[in-house]
This record gives sequence, structure tokens and C-alpha cells, in this order.
Amino acid sequence: MKQFIQLIAFFLAFECIAQKQEPTFKVNVSQVESEVSPTMWGIFFEDINMGADGGIYAELVKNRSFEFFKPLMGWKITSPNTLQGFYLGSEITIVNQPEKASTNPRYLHVNLKNPNPQSLGISNEGFRGMGIKKGLRYDFSVFYRQKTAHTVLVIELVSSNGQVIGQTKISPNDTSNEWQKLETSFTANETDAKAKLNIWFEGNGEIDLDMISLFPSDTWKGRKEGLRADMVQMLADMKPGFIRFPGGCIVEGHDLSVRYQWKKTLGPIENRKLIVNRWNYEMAHRLAPDYFQTFGLGFMEYFQLAEDIGAEPLPILNCGMACQFNSGELAPLNQLEPYIQDALDLIEFANGDSTTFLGKVRINLGHPKPFNLKMLGVGNENWGTQYIERLEIFKEKLQAIYPNIKLVCSTGPLPNGPLFDYLNPTLRKMEVGFVDEHFYSRPEWFFANAKRYDSYDKKTKTKVFAGEYASQSVGMVSPENKNNWLTALSEAAFMTGMERNAGVVQMASYAPLFAHIDGWQWTPNLIWVDNLKSMATPNYHVQKIYSNYKGTHTVSMLYKDKQISAGQDSLFASAVIDKNSQELILKIVNQSKDKRQISIQIEGLSKLPKAADLIKLENENLEALNTLERPNEIQAIESTITLSGKNVDLAIGGYSFTTIRLKTNAK
Ligand code: AHR
Repeated sequence: MKQFIQLIAFFLAFECIAQKQEPTFKVNVSQVESEVSPTMWGIFFEDINMGADGGIYAELVKNRSFEFFKPLMGWKITSPNTLQGFYLGSEITIVNQPEKASTNPRYLHVNLKNPNPQSLGISNEGFRGMGIKKGLRYDFSVFYRQKTAHTVLVIELVSSNGQVIGQTKISPNDTSNEWQKLETSFTANETDAKAKLNIWFEGNGEIDLDMISLFPSDTWKGRKEGLRADMVQMLADMKPGFIRFPGGCIVEGHDLSVRYQWKKTLGPIENRKLIVNRWNYEMAHRLAPDYFQTFGLGFMEYFQLAEDIGAEPLPILNCGMACQFNSGELAPLNQLEPYIQDALDLIEFANGDSTTFLGKVRINLGHPKPFNLKMLGVGNENWGTQYIERLEIFKEKLQAIYPNIKLVCSTGPLPNGPLFDYLNPTLRKMEVGFVDEHFYSRPEWFFANAKRYDSYDKKTKTKVFAGEYASQSVGMVSPENKNNWLTALSEAAFMTGMERNAGVVQMASYAPLFAHIDGWQWTPNLIWVDNLKSMATPNYHVQKIYSNYKGTHTVSMLYKDKQISAGQDSLFASAVIDKNSQELILKIVNQSKDKRQISIQIEGLSKLPKAADLIKLENENLEALNTLERPNEIQAIESTITLSGKNVDLAIGGYSFTTIRLKTNAK
């Protein structure tokens, strides 16, 4: 009996060793499955959550042209002639003069009668305050007109505790009574995230003012009146393959009158007609009555941004349909012409040479080289037969002239259900370039759907663009959603499935991109900012790793049951090689809380290198978050492991996302 027990114990121990030795994964480097599109991982920019105005567009003055619904929103008049906060005087008035410029008809009229210094002025609160940095130069500008020159403007930056932290004085001297731009600069002597701008009027006489503006000088690439450098840098660091812009629902508009019209976003800033932002009133629980689109970030700036960060531009245009969550207003089929012309014109604007009218417009705006536009989105989240009817007309007209432009078309707002089930096959039958799938679901959905694309036909002409996706910790549009580690981990797991199916999915982007901590409507978001800083969420780190290490080709990576790895034993994995850097890149997600010992057998290499580079994202707390105060709770940690033996053996943490990079050319 004793001998029998010993024998059993021996066999169990042997079995254990044998199991231990069985590799967890088998990777075959020479079994290339598909190319990874250079556009695989990108970004989606929409002016939501104060992403553009109040965000990346560095203008600090809110309602600089007095064109908001309430012309003095964001401004306060300081005068001895006030009662309970109401201005009762007549020295400062708002004039609406459409013949001045139909795009910017309102201005401020100031009629001075020797006021004492600092007795009459206006004050701008900025977008939830103004972020001001000590030692930085600030560029102030204003449009004015006057008949006599007796007015002095004292410009002051005032900190949240009432200290003047920068000031200058200007004396407008043109008396032609024509509009002039006056510019001046000064340096701030303190840092404050919630400063405001005062303008005091001194002297005697009348003056009209418009486009009162203040920009920091440390913009992206130092461009005058440009973009916030820290926010653009976050995008550049992702090395995105494409940038989808400008939306999202703002492309469609609540009704067609407030749809996004790209031509109105070009040229001198004072002529770009401001419109309300749909996110001003869309979220009843997060109303933003001061949210408008100034188009300081217009189509020229979007194209320039794409070029700067090395991303293919992917503009989305309105297809003659307003947002179907709102009015659903339609342009009749026989009146689609202006919408289609907008699309044709956009291609000419982006790609035309100097012999074309719109190519010349671009050249005159300072960009002689074409932007090389290759893709165009027709509609955002549109659905139903009304969408297909319009799309068919667009497609026919666009492809007759530009057969090589790939059309990106909507499969509606959900990744399954009747809207999707109608649109997906219909669009594929139409052989459009890309179907644009959107999914905002709970983390469980993302883990469970890591296999989503394994059943898609790889040979079809139409490819998938996962244009908007984000794991929702509570549920879609819940204001309680957090960018916690669980959401990022579930996206990382889902993305192994997209990467494995790079022959099917050729573009993907998280949504939304930016949110201002005091001005958001939607959560979760990839990057959170305040007036001075920007912060990477765990989700950002996941996106950045996939994009920075996207490789050039997928290769086979099987779990020990010889299947693709999509959740067995809580593991998810995918593998790519990079033929340029000669690397094998493996991504592994561990959904369980337990640490795992992993062994990866690699076939197709003459020799394993002596070391591999690791990038780890992990946290034992699935609720863990980064915040603007503690931005590095979850961050990517890089290290190197030495390799010995035939396999890559390593321990991976519980709730972890590990990326392993090893050279494929070791000798
Ligand atoms: O990303 C936020 C919104 O979600 C987008 O504007 C829209 O396309 C989707 O419904």
C-alpha cells in the first residue's frame, strides 16, 4: 500500500513538472497572418468636454467677439454705476451691426467721460478661469475703431486671490474709424490656474472694440494664436496613425442649421462665424450654456495638426442628416447638392495643386504642399434607409471623380442589434472602404468580445474602422463613469482581438479624446486637463503602447489549448512582428487577480536574444485611477529581462497588461 501511494505521488509530481514545462503560449514568427495597417491605431478629436474651445485651442478669452447668445456671457462690467451686480450705466454698450460683418456683427461700444483710473472696465473670466504661468509672455490683441484717440486701455491679469500678476497699457492711435488690430505682449509674474483678465478704460472719447483675445506664447511649435503645446504633445506621443475629426455628433448638429460646415472654419479668425456647440445643451445633467464653437481650431488647423503628429487626416462630413438622437432633420434627396459639393471641395482643398481653385485657397493659407487626403467619412452614427439613400448618391458622385478616396461609413451608434444588422451587410454590399463601428459598453463586454473580429471575413474589400469605443465603468453616458484600471484592462484585452485581426480592422480610435476637469459633459475620456496641466488616463497608456508598438505584421500566437488566446484562464494575447525594427512584440493581458508564471515558446527564430524589453501596466486595485493631482498612480513601467533556455519565461502580475519586445535578428 505504501509503495502504491509512493508511486501515485511520483506520477503526480511528474505530471506537475510536465505541466509546468508545457508552454503557455506558442508563437510562430514565420507564420505571418496579415499586415498591420500603418493607420491601425489613431485618435478621434471632437470639440466635446471643452476639448477645442477652452482646451487645445489656446485662446484664454471666452466670448471674445460678444457673439454668444448672451453677448456679455463670460464678461463683467466694472463701474460705479451698478446695482446688485447689474450695470445701470450707458458708457459700455453692445452694438449689433450686421453690415459690419455678417459673421461677427456684435461689438462693444465704450463712451468715456474722464473716468478715474480703474473705475470703468470689463473683466473676462476665461474658460473656467485662465491658466497663467509665471515668466511666460502673453499676447493680447483687440480690434478697435475710433474717430479720436483719447482712450487708454489698461490690461491686467488678476490671480484668483486678487493679485495683479501681469499688466500693460495700450493707447490705440488710429483715428480712421476703420477696424484695426492692435497687439501687445506682457509677461506674467505668477502662476495661477484660475486667473482673469481685466481691461480698464481711461480717458475721454468713444471707441469700438471686438475680438478681445489673449494667448500664451508657449503654443505648439510656437505658432501665433495656436494650440496648447502640452495637449498636442500628448497626441504626438501616441504616434497616431490617423486623426478623425471634427466629430462625432457635432458634425451632424442638433438640426441642420448648426451642422459643422468646414468652409466656414477657414481664413481670418474674426470672420469665422461662431455657432453653438451641440454639447452646450445635450447633457441635461451637465449643461454648459457657455459652450460655443469659435472654430479657432478649424479645418486648416486640423489638417496641420494631422501633419504635425504624423497622422493621416480623416475628416467626417455631414451627409444631409442632423443627429438622429436629436431632430433627425433631413436634407431632401433632391437637395443634397451642397452637401456633396462640400465633400468634393474638401478633397480639392486638401489635395489640389495651384491650378485648382481650392488648392490655391490652401496655398494662400500657407500650405503649398497637398495634405494627401486618402479617406473621407460620410456621416457620423447615421442609420436607417434614409442614411443609405443619401450615401448612395454621395458615393456615386464622389467616386466618379475621386475613385481612390476611401469612404468611411456609419454602422450606427451600436455594434449590434437591428440598426447594425441592416447597415453592416448593406454597406459591405456597396463595397465602401470602411464600416465605422462604435461601442461604448461595460468592461465585461470588452473582455467577452475579444473574439468579435475572429469571425469576420478577412477577404472582403470593406474593412472595419472601430471609430469610437471606450469601456464604461457604470454605463453609457453615466456621469459616474471613471477611467479606472478595469476599463483600461478590458480595452487592452479587447484590443488583442483587434490586433490579431489586423487584416479586418485597419483603424481604431478611443472616444472621446479630451475633457476639461471643470467643463466636461461626457465621461470617460482619454486625456483629462485643467487650465495648466494634462493627464494621461490608464486608457491612454494602453492606447499609446498599442500604437507605439503596432508592428508591421501579425503572427500566430496560440494558447496551450492550441486556440487563439481570448480569455482562457483569464489570459488574452496577440503577437506582431515589426519588419523595420526587427522585433517580435507580444501583448498579454491577465484578467485575473492572481500572478501567473508564463512560458512562451517561440518558433521561427534561429536564436532567442539574450534579453527582452518589458512594458508593464498593472494594479491590484481595479478601481485605481490617475488624477491631475496624482497622475502617475498607473503608469507604464519599462524593464529588461534576461532570457536563457528555449522559451521566454516570465511572471506577470494580477490584473496586468504586459508588452514584451524581443529582437528577431539575434545571432
Ligand atoms: O464620443 C461622444 C459621442 O458619442 C460622439 O459625438 C458620438 O459620435 C457618439 O454618440
